[in-house]
Amino acid sequence: MVLIRTPKIWELSENEVTSETVYFNRRSFLKGLVGASIGASFFALTGCRASSSQTALEDSLKQPKIQFITTNPDFAVVDRPITEQDLAGRYNNFYEFGSTKNIWLKAQSLPTENWKVEVTGLVNKPKTYDLDDLKKSFPLEERIYRFRCVEAWSMVLPWVGFPMKELIKAVEPTSQAKFIRFSSYYDSKTIPGPTFHLGALPWPYQESLTIDEMANDLAFLALGIYGHDLPKQHGAPIRAVIPWKYGFKGAKSIVKIEFVEQQPATYWHTIVPNEYDFQANVNPTKPHPRWSQATEKFIGKGPGLSWEIKETLPYNGYGKYVASLYT
Ligand code: MTE
Repeated sequence: MVLIRTPKIWELSENEVTSETVYFNRRSFLKGLVGASIGASFFALTGCRASSSQTALEDSLKQPKIQFITTNPDFAVVDRPITEQDLAGRYNNFYEFGSTKNIWLKAQSLPTENWKVEVTGLVNKPKTYDLDDLKKSFPLEERIYRFRCVEAWSMVLPWVGFPMKELIKAVEPTSQAKFIRFSSYYDSKTIPGPTFHLGALPWPYQESLTIDEMANDLAFLALGIYGHDLPKQHGAPIRAVIPWKYGFKGAKSIVKIEFVEQQPATYWHTIVPNEYDFQANVNPTKPHPRWSQATEKFIGKGPGLSWEIKETLPYNGYGKYVASLYT
């Protein structure tokens, strides 16, 4: 974002991908990394940093296991490893809790009890779901997706959830519905917001897709990550994941999904329209006004928060699924 300071490839088998040991046993992961080439380090996870704050971080990540049917083999990422869980869990964008990447602790104050998601607008069957309804109404699966932030860093993340197209089937949009607006939870009394001042920010965080984009098989609503319910810093208890678009399109902690006729205002596009366009498809040939999008810093493995420079792929590597939407 305008205000954000941005800072050996191997293939995991499906077993390793879903294994608890890979997710939680950092040591065994690190052993496998001896000799691996690592890019610049943000900071090393050593000494006292690895003690109490590491324990608190691990606690924030130890959410209940989430039941899902299977890891969908169609979406395996074979040229990069899954990002280590504790790297993904402490390098987040969640402006409701501040403008740095280090918001995981503050995000623990997000009140997620009795969560409800209202699905409304131009639909024949509006419905308000609680989390149990969502888990029972839709078949949950794991999908391993590339994740590309507009700030030119990337990860590979194992989400658990269901395709948005299943929600479309359930609520039956009318023919007038052309766009979907996702609204995140916001309460000015309990959510601190970022420390920068730009005047009034357009809370709640809102994002939007066209209905054709939402109907694409890739568009996903995640209830979990790394085999467990979503930790708060990742946007518990439900967030959008649209892997061919920059990460800011995926609203976290969603409370409302509305089917509407006109293109809605969205958070970053409202604040800085010339830097964050509505469509926001990952495109290495279209630089951000202030930096190139041709390459990215892939954050995959430790020790510490490190990266490798990778080429950015058109549509983040998902062109075969989505390029036809834009012809
Ligand atoms: N959703 C809300 N509500 N607030 C945010 O600040 N940041 C977006 C997106 N969704 C954001 C949000 C951005 S810029 C990115 S890159 C991703 O969340 C980061 O997701 P992660 O922290 O789980 O990696």
